[in-house]
Amino acid sequence: MPITYDTTKKQFHLFNDQVSYIMEIVEDLYLTQVYYGQRITSFNQSSSFPRIDRSSFSPNPQQLSNKGFSLNVCLQEAPGYNNGDYRDGLVAATYSDGTKATNLLNQDYRIIPGKPKLDGLPATYVVDDQEATTLLINLSDPYRHLTVTLSYTIYEKRSVITKSTSFTNDSKTTLTLNRALSACVDFPTAEFDVIQMPGDWAREKQLHRQTIMPGLHSLESKRGASGVAQQPFIALADPKTDDKNGEVYGFHFVYSGNFKISTEVDPWQQTRLLIGINPFNFGWTLKPGESFQAPEVVLVYEKNGLNRMSQTFHNLYRERLARGKFQYEERPILINNWETTYFDFNEAKLLTLADDAKKLGVELFVLDDGWFGKRNSDTTSLGDWFVNSKKLTHGLKHLVDQIHNKGLKFGLWFKPEMVSEASDLFKEHPDWHIHIDGYPTSLGRNQLILDFSRKEVRDAIFERMTKILDTVPIDYIKWDMNRNMTEVGSIGRDSKEQLKTSHLYMLGLYEFLEKLTTRYPNILFENCSGGAGRFDAGMVYYMPQSWTSDNTDAVERLKIQYSTSFMFPPIMMCSHISESPNHQIGRQTNLNTRATVAMAGNLGLMLDLKHQTDADLAILKEDLQWYKEHRNLIQFGNFYRLLNPYDHDRYGAFEFLNEDGGLIYFVEILPQASKPWLRLKLQGLEANSLYEINHQKLSGSELMNYGIYMNTDLFGDFQSKLIEFKKIK
Ligand code: DGJ
Repeated sequence: MPITYDTTKKQFHLFNDQVSYIMEIVEDLYLTQVYYGQRITSFNQSSSFPRIDRSSFSPNPQQLSNKGFSLNVCLQEAPGYNNGDYRDGLVAATYSDGTKATNLLNQDYRIIPGKPKLDGLPATYVVDDQEATTLLINLSDPYRHLTVTLSYTIYEKRSVITKSTSFTNDSKTTLTLNRALSACVDFPTAEFDVIQMPGDWAREKQLHRQTIMPGLHSLESKRGASGVAQQPFIALADPKTDDKNGEVYGFHFVYSGNFKISTEVDPWQQTRLLIGINPFNFGWTLKPGESFQAPEVVLVYEKNGLNRMSQTFHNLYRERLARGKFQYEERPILINNWETTYFDFNEAKLLTLADDAKKLGVELFVLDDGWFGKRNSDTTSLGDWFVNSKKLTHGLKHLVDQIHNKGLKFGLWFKPEMVSEASDLFKEHPDWHIHIDGYPTSLGRNQLILDFSRKEVRDAIFERMTKILDTVPIDYIKWDMNRNMTEVGSIGRDSKEQLKTSHLYMLGLYEFLEKLTTRYPNILFENCSGGAGRFDAGMVYYMPQSWTSDNTDAVERLKIQYSTSFMFPPIMMCSHISESPNHQIGRQTNLNTRATVAMAGNLGLMLDLKHQTDADLAILKEDLQWYKEHRNLIQFGNFYRLLNPYDHDRYGAFEFLNEDGGLIYFVEILPQASKPWLRLKLQGLEANSLYEINHQKLSGSELMNYGIYMNTDLFGDFQSKLIEFKKIK
């Protein structure tokens, strides 16, 4: 049993071969955090939590005779509110008397095999109950009758623990949750670097690492989506940890809406980490007997560096977060018409592009924005999901049949959550968008957000989409969403329930996606949000691949994909070979490097094939063939980051590895005259096996410790090379 409760020590121990997570009930009341890290067999310094000898500024709970005990210094699992712990807590609620103090005391627990589903929310799962064990601990405030259930699942064979929390009103009056976070992890140290992924549109996930700061700091989104500006991810790493060595704790929130991750270093050099739905614009009334379920957080502990932490996330997300037919299928190489035509296309143009793409070996043709309503620019028609017969004169089905006849699959772009003011849908239903009655609403890219917290709105869009999908044989959908929430309100909702809107929106979206993906199991879904504006773990549950960024410049993408790989495996990162000069930043890069970077992910093209030279078309054809031969390794192998492109814009390198061998991707970004020669050291090989590489037979130990020279023969900006190696069996 990987979860035990020691009744003498009052200790819970969650463990597998790799990790231990230990909690203890202290003073018979409080659930404290004792140890989280590399597996230990037992913990015997029971009740060794810090005591204070002067409590003027760290109060003692009244019911305890032990005046050395203060919640203010205690490492806790469910810190309350306004109860003498002056750090931020897991919960804040307003009760019927208008006050907020909350103290959560231990009640009871249950250990169950497997992992229960989180109703209506995305979450990691098990296929067999043997894979994991779950601990449910109830805590309650005996005066407020608020019960908090902490749920912990430990996977048997992964260094993964998941946490989530539910809140139940067991009182006789209504209360309002102002803060209902998913997880608190308290550490007895502040010896950490914080790794986070700030960014913006077309510059998503820019890896950032710095020493943890004293006091309270947060990474968050208030956008109604996880957003471009932060990823709901944080890693706390030992300052000495690098890609290959050292301890790291990774935390990823499985949610796509507003989030808050905070670190708080207290005066005693202890660190509190809190993760959950952002309390911003949030208020959840709970009537007597009602519960609120907060989403899941995935915790990964790794003692051997950042690459291994990422691989644990990759394997978990590929195997136990993504679902459906495409989970283990090699993904088709697509061409998307967006940067070739933008809104200016007709059937003939699309068919020519499809013909040219087919000749190169493309497998899936994707028609992007502009095929519906009067959509000739981004000012109109979102919501009018009816084919524009001026552009597609013979209709969508005719186009799709022709594409299929060429031996290509067909994919279509939708932006189901949005509505244009200039649309028939908006004329018919001017109150279906997120807004506050009588209060001006901001626009984002000329669009408003449909109120997916309302069932009738979801149902209408579902019907419009299924009308197409039931009659036209579509193989792939790109689901776009590219504006964030402002002036949040939902027409018809009671004033006391208005602050539920952002989360009800997410629940509505998840319900919609569940229904749609279940009804069309043969459609491959790609998640997009103006690039990676909602590329998060929540979306992976419904859509097994995501558009990594609108920025397809090879150098920028090298960085974005490098950071994205902290959480997500390459199969989930859609990456396209696009034009040079690049449409987003105007940089010119050679085709070889554009292809190399794109082929480190889930490959596609966004290229005007009419304007490529014959020589480039020949290179592309070879590249696509090469990718098909290697995509199993790229999409399902182990992935390693070898060189960090953020490091002075010098180099970037990745490695893909499986039991037969591997691939090295190397980019020299900015070269120097008389440049230092670079020996690249590989990772993860079998030390005593021989590998055939560069026409030589070299041992794994030599390749990992001495490495191979990489840049001696490269000349010019933005050069790259791809090296294959095979294990000699
Ligand atoms: C934003 C997406 O990220 C692009 O790839 C493209 O689909 C446009 N929307 C279309 O409007």
